[in-house]
Amino acid sequence: DKQIQIAIDGPAGAGKSTIAKIVAENLGFTYIDTGAMYRAVTNKAISQNIELSDANSLEIMLLNTSIILEPSPNGQLVFVDGENVTEAIRSNEVTANVSEVAAHANIREILVAKQQELAARGGIVMDGRDIATHVLKDAELKIFMSASVEERAKRRFIDNERRGIPSTIEKLQEEIALRDKLDSQREASPLIQAEDAIYLDTTELSIEEAAGEILKLAKQQM
Ligand code: C5P
Repeated sequence: DKQIQIAIDGPAGAGKSTIAKIVAENLGFTYIDTGAMYRAVTNKAISQNIELSDANSLEIMLLNTSIILEPSPNGQLVFVDGENVTEAIRSNEVTANVSEVAAHANIREILVAKQQELAARGGIVMDGRDIATHVLKDAELKIFMSASVEERAKRRFIDNERRGIPSTIEKLQEEIALRDKLDSQREASPLIQAEDAIYLDTTELSIEEAAGEILKLAKQQM
Protein backbone atom coordinates (compact mmCIF):
# COMPACT_ATOMS: atom_id res chain seq x y z
CA ASP A 1 0.00 0.00 0.00
CA LYS A 2 1.04 3.55 -0.71
CA GLN A 3 2.04 5.67 2.29
CA ILE A 4 -0.25 8.56 1.47
CA GLN A 5 -0.87 11.81 3.33
CA ILE A 6 -4.41 12.47 4.56
CA ALA A 7 -5.24 16.08 5.53
CA ILE A 8 -8.29 16.78 7.67
CA ASP A 9 -9.36 20.37 8.37
CA GLY A 10 -12.43 21.88 9.90
CA PRO A 11 -13.81 23.97 12.75
CA ALA A 12 -13.59 23.14 16.45
CA GLY A 13 -15.51 20.10 17.59
CA ALA A 14 -16.36 18.67 14.18
CA GLY A 15 -14.92 15.32 15.25
CA LYS A 16 -11.59 15.64 13.44
CA SER A 17 -9.32 14.15 16.07
CA THR A 18 -11.61 11.28 17.08
CA ILE A 19 -12.18 10.29 13.47
CA ALA A 20 -8.60 10.91 12.34
CA LYS A 21 -7.35 8.59 15.09
CA ILE A 22 -9.60 5.76 13.92
CA VAL A 23 -8.61 6.27 10.29
CA ALA A 24 -4.91 6.24 11.19
CA GLU A 25 -5.24 3.14 13.31
CA ASN A 26 -7.08 1.30 10.55
CA LEU A 27 -4.46 2.11 7.95
CA GLY A 28 -1.47 1.63 10.26
CA PHE A 29 -0.66 5.32 9.76
CA THR A 30 0.58 7.90 12.27
CA TYR A 31 -1.91 10.44 13.57
CA ILE A 32 -0.70 14.01 14.07
CA ASP A 33 -2.86 16.57 15.87
CA THR A 34 -1.45 19.97 14.89
CA GLY A 35 -3.82 21.86 17.20
CA ALA A 36 -1.84 20.33 20.07
CA MET A 37 1.23 22.29 18.94
CA TYR A 38 -0.58 25.63 19.04
CA ARG A 39 -2.02 24.63 22.39
CA ALA A 40 1.44 23.67 23.69
CA VAL A 41 2.83 27.09 22.76
CA THR A 42 -0.15 28.83 24.37
CA ASN A 43 0.16 26.79 27.55
CA LYS A 44 3.85 27.57 27.97
CA ALA A 45 3.35 31.26 27.19
CA ILE A 46 0.62 31.54 29.83
CA SER A 47 2.75 29.79 32.43
CA GLN A 48 5.64 32.17 31.66
CA ASN A 49 3.40 35.24 31.74
CA ILE A 50 4.22 36.16 28.17
CA GLU A 51 1.83 38.63 26.57
CA LEU A 52 -0.10 36.60 23.98
CA SER A 53 -0.32 39.53 21.58
CA ASP A 54 3.48 39.89 21.61
CA ALA A 55 4.53 37.87 18.55
CA ASN A 56 8.23 38.58 19.07
CA SER A 57 8.41 37.35 22.63
CA LEU A 58 6.38 34.30 21.67
CA GLU A 59 8.82 33.52 18.87
CA ILE A 60 11.83 33.80 21.14
CA MET A 61 10.12 31.51 23.62
CA LEU A 62 9.19 29.00 20.90
CA LEU A 63 12.72 28.90 19.47
CA ASN A 64 13.84 27.82 22.94
CA THR A 65 11.16 25.19 23.39
CA SER A 66 11.14 21.50 22.57
CA ILE A 67 7.73 20.21 21.49
CA ILE A 68 7.53 16.47 20.98
CA LEU A 69 4.46 14.67 19.68
CA GLU A 70 4.61 11.01 20.56
CA PRO A 71 2.14 8.60 18.95
CA SER A 72 0.33 6.55 21.59
CA PRO A 73 -2.49 3.99 21.51
CA ASN A 74 -4.97 6.67 22.67
CA GLY A 75 -3.88 9.16 20.05
CA GLN A 76 -0.93 11.33 20.81
CA LEU A 77 1.12 12.41 23.83
CA VAL A 78 2.54 15.92 23.95
CA PHE A 79 5.78 16.80 25.72
CA VAL A 80 7.03 20.35 26.17
CA ASP A 81 10.61 20.66 27.40
CA GLY A 82 10.36 17.07 28.57
CA GLU A 83 7.17 17.58 30.55
CA ASN A 84 4.00 15.65 29.65
CA VAL A 85 1.38 18.36 28.94
CA THR A 86 -1.13 16.13 27.11
CA GLU A 87 -3.91 16.97 29.58
CA ALA A 88 -2.81 20.50 30.53
CA ILE A 89 -3.16 21.80 26.97
CA ARG A 90 -6.90 20.93 26.98
CA SER A 91 -7.72 23.35 29.82
CA ASN A 92 -10.40 26.00 29.35
CA GLU A 93 -7.76 28.71 29.69
CA VAL A 94 -5.64 27.33 26.85
CA THR A 95 -8.72 26.74 24.68
CA ALA A 96 -9.89 30.32 25.21
CA ASN A 97 -6.51 31.78 24.24
CA VAL A 98 -5.07 29.49 21.59
CA SER A 99 -6.61 31.28 18.59
CA GLU A 100 -4.84 34.50 19.51
CA VAL A 101 -1.49 32.72 19.54
CA ALA A 102 -2.27 30.78 16.35
CA ALA A 103 -3.00 34.00 14.48
CA HIS A 104 0.68 35.07 14.56
CA ALA A 105 2.29 34.34 11.16
CA ASN A 106 5.78 33.92 12.66
CA ILE A 107 4.57 31.27 15.11
CA ARG A 108 2.73 29.43 12.34
CA GLU A 109 5.81 29.42 10.14
CA ILE A 110 7.87 27.61 12.77
CA LEU A 111 5.17 25.07 13.59
CA VAL A 112 4.27 24.42 9.94
CA ALA A 113 7.91 23.56 9.15
CA LYS A 114 7.83 21.04 11.98
CA GLN A 115 4.55 19.58 10.74
CA GLN A 116 5.89 19.20 7.21
CA GLU A 117 8.94 17.40 8.55
CA LEU A 118 6.76 14.99 10.54
CA ALA A 119 4.62 14.24 7.47
CA ALA A 120 7.38 14.01 4.90
CA ARG A 121 7.50 10.23 4.73
CA GLY A 122 3.75 9.84 4.31
CA GLY A 123 1.65 7.24 6.08
CA ILE A 124 0.07 9.99 8.12
CA VAL A 125 -3.28 11.46 9.01
CA MET A 126 -2.87 15.10 10.05
CA ASP A 127 -5.65 17.31 11.37
CA GLY A 128 -5.85 21.06 11.89
CA ARG A 129 -7.12 24.20 10.18
CA ASP A 130 -4.68 24.80 7.31
CA ILE A 131 -3.38 21.33 6.53
CA ALA A 132 -4.89 21.02 3.04
CA THR A 133 -4.39 24.69 2.13
CA HIS A 134 -0.84 25.19 3.45
CA VAL A 135 0.93 22.43 5.35
CA LEU A 136 0.35 19.49 2.98
CA LYS A 137 -0.76 21.04 -0.28
CA ASP A 138 0.02 17.81 -2.15
CA ALA A 139 -1.82 15.45 0.21
CA GLU A 140 -3.45 12.60 -1.71
CA LEU A 141 -6.66 12.98 0.28
CA LYS A 142 -8.07 16.22 1.69
CA ILE A 143 -11.16 16.31 3.87
CA PHE A 144 -12.99 19.37 5.18
CA MET A 145 -15.04 18.16 8.11
CA SER A 146 -17.84 20.14 9.68
CA ALA A 147 -21.04 19.81 11.70
CA SER A 148 -23.67 22.22 13.04
CA VAL A 149 -22.45 24.41 15.89
CA GLU A 150 -25.15 22.91 18.19
CA GLU A 151 -23.94 19.40 17.50
CA ARG A 152 -20.31 20.41 17.97
CA ALA A 153 -21.05 22.05 21.32
CA LYS A 154 -22.92 18.94 22.44
CA ARG A 155 -19.98 16.72 21.52
CA ARG A 156 -17.51 18.98 23.31
CA PHE A 157 -19.72 18.92 26.38
CA ILE A 158 -19.70 15.11 26.48
CA ASP A 159 -15.95 15.12 25.84
CA ASN A 160 -15.36 17.63 28.66
CA GLU A 161 -17.47 15.59 31.08
CA ARG A 162 -15.30 12.59 30.34
CA ARG A 163 -12.15 14.64 30.93
CA GLY A 164 -13.56 16.21 34.09
CA ILE A 165 -13.49 19.73 32.66
CA PRO A 166 -16.50 21.79 33.87
CA SER A 167 -18.60 23.45 31.13
CA THR A 168 -22.14 24.16 29.93
CA ILE A 169 -23.48 23.56 26.42
CA GLU A 170 -24.41 27.23 26.11
CA LYS A 171 -20.93 28.46 27.03
CA LEU A 172 -19.33 25.90 24.74
CA GLN A 173 -21.47 27.00 21.82
CA GLU A 174 -20.37 30.60 22.36
CA GLU A 175 -16.72 29.60 22.76
CA ILE A 176 -16.79 27.44 19.63
CA ALA A 177 -18.49 30.13 17.54
CA LEU A 178 -15.93 32.71 18.67
CA ARG A 179 -12.99 30.40 17.96
CA ASP A 180 -14.40 29.57 14.49
CA LYS A 181 -14.68 33.28 13.78
CA LEU A 182 -11.12 34.06 14.89
CA ASP A 183 -9.71 31.06 12.99
CA SER A 184 -11.66 31.84 9.79
CA GLN A 185 -11.06 35.57 9.73
CA ARG A 186 -7.38 35.80 10.60
CA GLU A 187 -4.90 36.97 7.98
CA ALA A 188 -2.38 34.12 8.25
CA SER A 189 -3.66 30.84 6.73
CA PRO A 190 -7.28 31.14 7.86
CA LEU A 191 -9.55 28.14 8.20
CA ILE A 192 -11.02 27.62 4.75
CA GLN A 193 -11.93 24.61 2.65
CA ALA A 194 -9.25 23.84 0.04
CA GLU A 195 -10.53 23.74 -3.54
CA ASP A 196 -9.58 20.09 -3.86
CA ALA A 197 -10.92 19.02 -0.46
CA ILE A 198 -13.98 16.81 -0.01
CA TYR A 199 -16.63 18.26 2.30
CA LEU A 200 -17.84 15.88 4.99
CA ASP A 201 -20.73 16.99 7.21
CA THR A 202 -20.71 14.81 10.33
CA THR A 203 -23.82 16.31 11.98
CA GLU A 204 -25.88 13.22 11.22
CA LEU A 205 -23.04 10.69 11.07
CA SER A 206 -21.78 8.38 13.79
CA ILE A 207 -18.03 8.30 14.42
CA GLU A 208 -17.84 4.91 12.68
CA GLU A 209 -19.75 6.16 9.64
CA ALA A 210 -17.53 9.22 9.24
CA ALA A 211 -14.35 7.17 9.65
CA GLY A 212 -15.69 4.60 7.17
CA GLU A 213 -16.33 7.32 4.62
CA ILE A 214 -12.74 8.58 4.87
CA LEU A 215 -11.28 5.06 4.82
CA LYS A 216 -13.16 4.33 1.61
CA LEU A 217 -11.75 7.48 -0.01
CA ALA A 218 -8.25 6.76 1.32
CA LYS A 219 -8.19 3.24 -0.13
CA GLN A 220 -8.99 4.65 -3.56
CA GLN A 221 -5.71 6.60 -3.34
CA MET A 222 -3.59 3.71 -2.07
O1 C5P B 1 -7.70 21.41 16.87
P1 C5P B 1 -7.77 22.26 18.13
O2 C5P B 1 -9.18 22.70 18.43
O3 C5P B 1 -7.10 21.62 19.29
O4 C5P B 1 -6.92 23.55 17.75
C1 C5P B 1 -6.76 24.60 18.67
C2 C5P B 1 -6.51 25.90 17.95
O5 C5P B 1 -5.25 25.88 17.31
C3 C5P B 1 -7.51 26.26 16.85
O6 C5P B 1 -8.67 26.89 17.35
C4 C5P B 1 -6.68 27.20 15.98
O7 C5P B 1 -6.67 28.51 16.50
C5 C5P B 1 -5.28 26.63 16.11
N1 C5P B 1 -4.87 25.78 15.00
C6 C5P B 1 -4.43 26.39 13.84
N2 C5P B 1 -3.94 25.64 12.82
C7 C5P B 1 -3.90 24.31 12.90
C8 C5P B 1 -4.38 23.65 14.07
C9 C5P B 1 -4.88 24.43 15.08
O8 C5P B 1 -4.46 27.61 13.75
N3 C5P B 1 -3.38 23.61 11.90
